[in-house]
Amino acid sequence: MPLTSDHRWDEFRRQMPIAGKWAYFDHAAISPLPGPTRDAIAQWLVEAAEKGGPAWPGWDHRLNEVHSIAATMVGAQPEEIGLSRSTTDGVSIVAEGFPWRAGDNVVLPTDEFPTNQYPWLNLESRGVAVHRIAITDHLELDRLEQACDDRTRLVALSWVGFLSGWRTDLAAAAEMVHRRGALLFVDAIQGLGAFPINVVETGIDFFASGGQKWLMGPEGTGLLYIRREHLPLLRPLGVGWNSVVQRGDYTHIELNLKNAASRYEGGGPNSVGFIGLAASLELLTHFGAAAIGERILEINEVCCRRLEAIGARIISPRSPRERLSGILTFELPDCDQMALRKHCYSKNVVLAYRAGRLRISPHAYVNGEDIDWLISALEDGKNHCRG
Ligand SMILES: Cc1ncc(COP(=O)(O)O)c(C=O)c1O
Repeated sequence: MPLTSDHRWDEFRRQMPIAGKWAYFDHAAISPLPGPTRDAIAQWLVEAAEKGGPAWPGWDHRLNEVHSIAATMVGAQPEEIGLSRSTTDGVSIVAEGFPWRAGDNVVLPTDEFPTNQYPWLNLESRGVAVHRIAITDHLELDRLEQACDDRTRLVALSWVGFLSGWRTDLAAAAEMVHRRGALLFVDAIQGLGAFPINVVETGIDFFASGGQKWLMGPEGTGLLYIRREHLPLLRPLGVGWNSVVQRGDYTHIELNLKNAASRYEGGGPNSVGFIGLAASLELLTHFGAAAIGERILEINEVCCRRLEAIGARIISPRSPRERLSGILTFELPDCDQMALRKHCYSKNVVLAYRAGRLRISPHAYVNGEDIDWLISALEDGKNHCRG
């Protein structure tokens, strides 16, 4: 069955300068920038070159708006959103600021991306144990629960697994973690921008996400969510002029921290990056996360059938639908997968090679022609890349 045609996604596609040049199936690695994002950044460059400081209040205003645009996307309050440099930055703010006592532990799955492992492992030198639990592709919450004990203060997991594509039921995870008396930290980067999330309904405590994948922003940007009641829990790090209530009053020195996650923003911001991210968030908001998520699932369903038809073995779980995501991992038997990926690149088809397998991750503007392009590059590659 071909992809259904829908003018909304043609409209999205028209905003993507990459469309028609590359068949782009790698948003789980890094997204190409939408046209409005490129234009916002270009405008910043003009202002920075031709105006400098006098342009700053306008940039500051726009960065302030990012808090509210992002908050609306996830059902949070603007004060619960902080701007960070990356997912890693957000994980570290929580990991380093958390009020650990020697003997406490944090529980996480072994298959997490390094970003959601190293900041926790770095706590071992402070007497915090890290319980890394091997689980299958279907992130089994009961396995994680068994690993929790009365010293577990936090459970850290990805919303969507970067290898499997499994989309965890965050409400169920939060319920389990809270029942065990701990808090839930979520690495949200592989879901945010692709699927809807509501921090109140799910009950998660913290999330961190870089802006460079499904959110379609530039690298060096990220969002951190801290549930309002947890703000006093975390020791503030990197405090500076931008952390305090009287942020513009540089001679009034008083450590009067903002009652907001922006207290972690510290010094001069990445204005150009967040001005770009703001445009990307507005574009995504225009189409709506629920519709985007449905379209991504539809694209992956079509890809799945077409891949199977050329002999691919699908590795990502294929049901239930509400646990699927934008990530689909597969392999073509008897082929050198790395060489196949290279071959696809030579045909202007972008996909990823991860853990010996191939991974596609299309955003909602990918169309039927892109899918044809992917399949023909892989079919052709099968003859060139015998393994
Ligand atoms: C699950 C997950 N978390 C985080 C990252 C990236 O982290 P950062 O934004 O710190 O570069 C990736 C990138 O592949 C990822 O898949």
